[in-house]
Amino acid sequence: MKENRETTGRENWSGRLGFILAAAGSAIGLGNIWRFPYITGENGGGAFILVYLLCVAIVGLPIMICEITLGRHTQRNPAGCFAMLTPKSSLLSHFLGAGMVLTGIALLVFQSYGWGIAALVLGALVFRKSWRLVGIMGVLTGFLILSYYSVVGGWAIGYAVKAAANQLSFDSMEPAKETFVNFVSNPLPVIGFHLLFMLLCVLIVYKGIQKGIETACKIMVPLLFIIMLMLILRGLTLPGADAGIRFCFTPDFSKLTAQGVLIALSHAFFTLSLGMGAMITYGSYLGKDENIFGAAVWIVALDTLFAILACLMIFPAVFAMGFEASEGPGLLFQVVPAVFHKIPFGPLWAVLFFLLLLMAALSSGISLLEVVTAYLVDERKWPRHQAVVLSGIVIFQLGALCAVSLGDWEAMRGTEKIITACFGGAKASFFDLIDNLTSNWMLPLGGLFIALFTGWIWGVRKAIEEIRHGSKNFADVHLLTLMAGLKDDPSHNGGTHPLTLATLWGIFIRFVCPVAILITFLHTIGWLNLTP
Ligand code: PHE
Repeated sequence: MKENRETTGRENWSGRLGFILAAAGSAIGLGNIWRFPYITGENGGGAFILVYLLCVAIVGLPIMICEITLGRHTQRNPAGCFAMLTPKSSLLSHFLGAGMVLTGIALLVFQSYGWGIAALVLGALVFRKSWRLVGIMGVLTGFLILSYYSVVGGWAIGYAVKAAANQLSFDSMEPAKETFVNFVSNPLPVIGFHLLFMLLCVLIVYKGIQKGIETACKIMVPLLFIIMLMLILRGLTLPGADAGIRFCFTPDFSKLTAQGVLIALSHAFFTLSLGMGAMITYGSYLGKDENIFGAAVWIVALDTLFAILACLMIFPAVFAMGFEASEGPGLLFQVVPAVFHKIPFGPLWAVLFFLLLLMAALSSGISLLEVVTAYLVDERKWPRHQAVVLSGIVIFQLGALCAVSLGDWEAMRGTEKIITACFGGAKASFFDLIDNLTSNWMLPLGGLFIALFTGWIWGVRKAIEEIRHGSKNFADVHLLTLMAGLKDDPSHNGGTHPLTLATLWGIFIRFVCPVAILITFLHTIGWLNLTP
């Protein structure tokens, strides 16, 4: 670790715990608390949770290891990382670029102009930039996600304030819904809260890796856990809460659709902060002697734990109060205040709940801002402080557009028409467009390319060499030996390594992950229909 700091001048995490908590803080966010419960509610509960766990284990964990390894090896932001490792010419990237250009031409012929032009431009870029594009796309994705993420973070602040002022006492769903719609469509206060959220992010990232991000996460992640436990205990002790528990833990496979499986997979990327290089960036501050595999398992396990806890926090209360589990994206901001109204000391629980949401969003928001900052510092040689403040300002402005696009603001009408005309389908706001573009397209695509790049271009062998520092068991001990508890004992291999964690990981990165992501992706764009 010391050696890193001396040779690259790069600040490192203070140690293993700091890294794990910061990365877990990035992973645990609105995805766990806001999104996971409502998609679970919409997709039938227990069976969906099982499929989600499978996706996390099969695709999430291998790519998490991949990203941290890429970061630690190159000690760079995602764009710098790919620039450093991309070979002079790559047949695979030329092939992909040509495929995209041809697809673009075909789409234009079929008069799908929006997608056609997008495919053409992207194809040309892939051709020119090759794998470097993956890193650049990662930084761009971070920039875009933070713009709308910060708006939702602002909603959490706004709702915490409302709860404290006791303005959230609804006894049925209708006024709760109305309040929410009125709140998000009134641009000025929403932009104010969004500004506050961005300021908090800037303030933390400004202070640097150890003093800023690490310290903030060391406080916020344990606090999150405590608040969550309190809220779970409160929910569980309500009469009728057992229906909620049953809903979460009794798998009913008849309710699970192919669509549900695909939602589970793309959610795995979002919730683990994968596919855009947040973990590459955090990995770049990791010391050489730390155990990458062990840390990745911890991060994934903590994120999963918080997702399950979020369901345990929300569903028992929702069922006990007689609300619908399949309420959709409004589940949190509409059902939760209504639920809290009906229990003793409601406003207090509601304030706690929205503070919890705010902290979860903040610990993820700083990781998004750090990606953009690290890019400007490494590649553009900007001083860190200037990079944080300026990117904060630009992201705030884009976020303000997202916030305004949800309201009924005349000037935004034009963009809605353009978005709808270009991409067809339902009427979409700028906010929805960015959310959809990043979560359903850029993250899975980024994940696919990160796996393909590591598996086939940079090479599993080099990646494993990097992981070996700090984790001997990963590549040198037979899997059975390891499972039997005979750790650190390469002698059981007889000098060869037929089956180790490393070989298993290599197979996943080269074959299993790309195929799984590709299937999801083709389904998302409608070229493969798995729904019976
Ligand atoms: N993982 C975060 C969440 O669950 C969102 C996020 C995505 C953060 C990508 C960083 C990068 O809310």
